[in-house]
Amino acid sequence: MSEVLVVKLGGTTIAEQRHVLGDVARVSCIRPVVLVHGGGKRITEWLERLGVPTRFEGGLRVTDAASIEVAAAVLRGVVNSELVAGLRDLGVDAVGLSGVDGGMLVAERIDGMGLVARVVGLRRDLLDSLLVAGRVPVVAPLACDEDGVICNVNADDATAGIAAGLGARQTVFMTDVDGIRGADGARIADVSAAEAESLIAEGVIAGGMIPKVRAALAALTTDGSEAVIAAGSSDAALTRAIGDPAFGTHVRRTPAAA
Ligand SMILES: Nc1ncnc2c1ncn2[C@@H]1O[C@H](COP(=O)(O)OP(=O)(O)OP(=O)(O)O)[C@@H](O)[C@H]1O
Ligand SMILES: [Mg+2]
Repeated sequence: MSEVLVVKLGGTTIAEQRHVLGDVARVSCIRPVVLVHGGGKRITEWLERLGVPTRFEGGLRVTDAASIEVAAAVLRGVVNSELVAGLRDLGVDAVGLSGVDGGMLVAERIDGMGLVARVVGLRRDLLDSLLVAGRVPVVAPLACDEDGVICNVNADDATAGIAAGLGARQTVFMTDVDGIRGADGARIADVSAAEAESLIAEGVIAGGMIPKVRAALAALTTDGSEAVIAAGSSDAALTRAIGDPAFGTHVRRTPAAA
């Protein structure tokens, strides 16, 4: 299990991410960090601006040839570059890349979703070389499928693939809610695989939270590893997510001991 921390940033605006970037900068002085970002909201904005129709299925965007161009441009060009620039401004040696670079994310097409792929493996050499050099890789969720076609991958899925491939001890999913909410609307502090699946079956966990909680579970490769889903907007959110068991939702393979 490695000290590397994998952090996923939800697709909010750069202004909202300012806090988290400062926190990433602090943590990256202490341990290696890989940052993965989403960008669904920004892609939707651009698709609307350009008049390209879009639809979701089970929290995943169905992507056609016109929308993959926009998605790739926005993720790699706009969102990734903004994050790299923001981190570099804070003194972090951030390097932008996507899962396409170095063939990093090994992916296969999901039937019926268009140009959307799931991550099935990680070629870790490129990440390792950046981490060894003290750099912070910032990864956009794109990957080539088995035919070499550029596809969109869900950013949570990309995060899980990277965390599992690196054997990361901790994975944090920063989002726009304070964690997984139960049927009563209150945040759940700990959730197991079985509890998560029943919350999905009951419709309590819906939309983008479905791939997120499944990714959080997939990131758990060893017994000691943990995944946290938390709000990225509060002060020191990342520091709290990795150090405070009462912050966010801690996703575990088995129920927490009573
Ligand atoms: N039980 C639940 N608890 C908390 N949030 C939930 C729940 N069910 C559905 N959600 C929704 O999931 C959303 C988070 O997923 P979403 O995909 O929108 O954000 P993200 O993954 O952080 O961003 P991006 O997809 O752009 O990377 C919340 O804003 C909320 O609307
Ligand atoms: Mg999402």
